[in-house]
Amino acid sequence: MDIHTLEKRWIQLSITLLAAFAVLIGVAAYAFGFQVPRLEQRVRPEDVLNDPKWGKVRELEPGRTYEVYLISRTWQFQPRRIEIPRGAKVTFYVTSVDVQHGFKVMGTSISMQVLPGYVGVISYTFKEPGVYRFICTEYCGLAHAAMFGEIIVK
Ligand code: CUA
Repeated sequence: MDIHTLEKRWIQLSITLLAAFAVLIGVAAYAFGFQVPRLEQRVRPEDVLNDPKWGKVRELEPGRTYEVYLISRTWQFQPRRIEIPRGAKVTFYVTSVDVQHGFKVMGTSISMQVLPGYVGVISYTFKEPGVYRFICTEYCGLAHAAMFGEIIVK
């Protein structure tokens, strides 16, 4: 079978690009710590509202390890203000009790879709002190733009 030279070049270019993208995914994951949020479990929204751990920050090891059980609902996050010390590793468990929302922490690699009935999990270590705003990234109705909160790292 005869393949035209130009066609061969295009095939080579396509394979090279695929290989380059695969390498870049590895670099993003291992060098920059980008993670795909994992699906922790399925929950019923009414159980989330009745479980006292939801909507709160839990301190596992003072100054080092924290968990945040974040509830998303139109149009607010609960808790809305999270305070943690610098260098703390925080695992976010995020769910919605109504419609689809998004959870993105500005200035970090944290970004996920938030669906009712599912808990998304992502961890991050806050090395630099400051105020990190988090926002809803899925349009969820009239006051979508007012759906935000902040993480204060001291
Ligand atoms: Cu919640 Cu947009």
